[in-house]
Amino acid sequence: MTASIKISPSILASDFSRLGEEARRAEAAGADMLHVDVMDGHFVPNITLGPPIVKALRPCTSLFFDVHLMISDPLKYVGDFIAAGAERITFHYECGADPAEVIARIHAGGCEAGLALKPATPASAALPYLESLEMALVMTVEPGFGGQKFMADQMEKVRALRAAFDAKGLCTDIQVDGGITPETLPLARAAGANVFVAGSFLFNAEDMQAAVQALRKANSN
Ligand code: DX5
Ligand code: ZN
Repeated sequence: MTASIKISPSILASDFSRLGEEARRAEAAGADMLHVDVMDGHFVPNITLGPPIVKALRPCTSLFFDVHLMISDPLKYVGDFIAAGAERITFHYECGADPAEVIARIHAGGCEAGLALKPATPASAALPYLESLEMALVMTVEPGFGGQKFMADQMEKVRALRAAFDAKGLCTDIQVDGGITPETLPLARAAGANVFVAGSFLFNAEDMQAAVQALRKANSN
């Protein structure tokens, strides 16, 4: 398949002491957006960053900010992340908040909304919200840490969601996040994903531009 895909480097794998430069490195490498992983130490065992860091990063790059909230109380923080510069906010179905309410809050702030599903959550969880989403995120690792192994068994969920969007005539983004490399990207692409988060593969690459191109080339093989 050669239709265009979007590459979203995850700054979780970047050098946090040089975040601004790392964001610019991703932009110069030809990324389509910047994936910002927010973890609260409660929904997931890890803690990363909050709205002040997003705000500080905003002037460093013109990349679209793809913010992935791995937090327990998205309703409490959505406004702060939008004010800080988030352009798409993805929250987790499993956080316990009413997804319809979180989506409405995100849209009310003029931001795009994504719904993320952990590996154990079935595609059916997202079905009531398809029309109101700009994106569905199928986690291909357990959220919390970068550098984990891609879970190929999640491809069935990607296929089910793509079929569900197609059945409604929607060409909504489906993002995959976790363990994306030139080897795994084609599996997710064939299943119907079109937005690819890559942390370690891109930020650990000496030549990030070549690494972005390797992902794009993997799509066209
Ligand atoms: C994991 C994060 C991912 C992570 C991906 O909870 O949501 O975005 O940074 O990292 P890699 O590409 O290294 O698996
Ligand atoms: Zn993520």
